[in-house]
Amino acid sequence: MKKERKTTAHRGVSSLAPENTMAAFKLVKEHGSQWIEIDVQLSADGVPMVIHDRTVNRCTNGRGSVREMSVSQLKMLDAGGWFDDRYVGERIPTLEETLLYVQEAGLHLNIELKVYPEDNVLALCDKVKEVVEESEIPLSQVLFSSFDNQALYQMMLTLPLVRRGQLWQQIPDEALALLHKIEAYSVHCDYRFLVKQEAELIKEAGYQLFCYTPNFPELVEKHWQWGVDMMITDDPKAYALTLES
Ligand code: G3P
Ligand code: MG
Repeated sequence: MKKERKTTAHRGVSSLAPENTMAAFKLVKEHGSQWIEIDVQLSADGVPMVIHDRTVNRCTNGRGSVREMSVSQLKMLDAGGWFDDRYVGERIPTLEETLLYVQEAGLHLNIELKVYPEDNVLALCDKVKEVVEESEIPLSQVLFSSFDNQALYQMMLTLPLVRRGQLWQQIPDEALALLHKIEAYSVHCDYRFLVKQEAELIKEAGYQLFCYTPNFPELVEKHWQWGVDMMITDDPKAYALTLES
């Protein structure tokens, strides 16, 4: 039986355009993914912003902590020039802008709730819930993921109809208890550490299993055989035409 090899575009098509920008999101469909993964954290004035690092230093022309900058300060920064001159003028998107694009494009969005030490988890969850609800996106088109089990627990309480995926670099011994606690839909783990027995455990327990971030299909040939359902990759096109037999 042929099974489609599904991908999520990690931070958009981040191999070809600056990560977590509209330019990277606009490539997703033509590169064969139905899903975009983004990283979300709050600005100083409580706006969910799409950016991975704790600071703006790596991916913009500014310096400083995301959580100490207002949305208007963050919006002044260039988020494309660090990647390539062609992308000068890209801005850090808000979650709201991203949801609008995802709806227009008919895509799905994996919203990773980024929790850095001393971040206010409840505030992040509250604001994200607010923006997702206001967008009126069908909730089946959204998935919350996080390394922070507490953030996912909070999302289960506040917006239970959005599915939840637990991120782990390595699947821990207490995995099933933690997944049960958040009524998880999926497990997202680092492909480099996954072993067959763990993959089987997760699949037998009824969860979807995703791997991040293999950028060459040959790295995960065996992972598909173990039952992995989706690869979260910077280069989705590399997988677009491969089929499992
Ligand atoms: O969602 C998978 C992946 O994004 C998790 O790690 O650091 O790339 O956000 P990171
Ligand atoms: Mg991420």
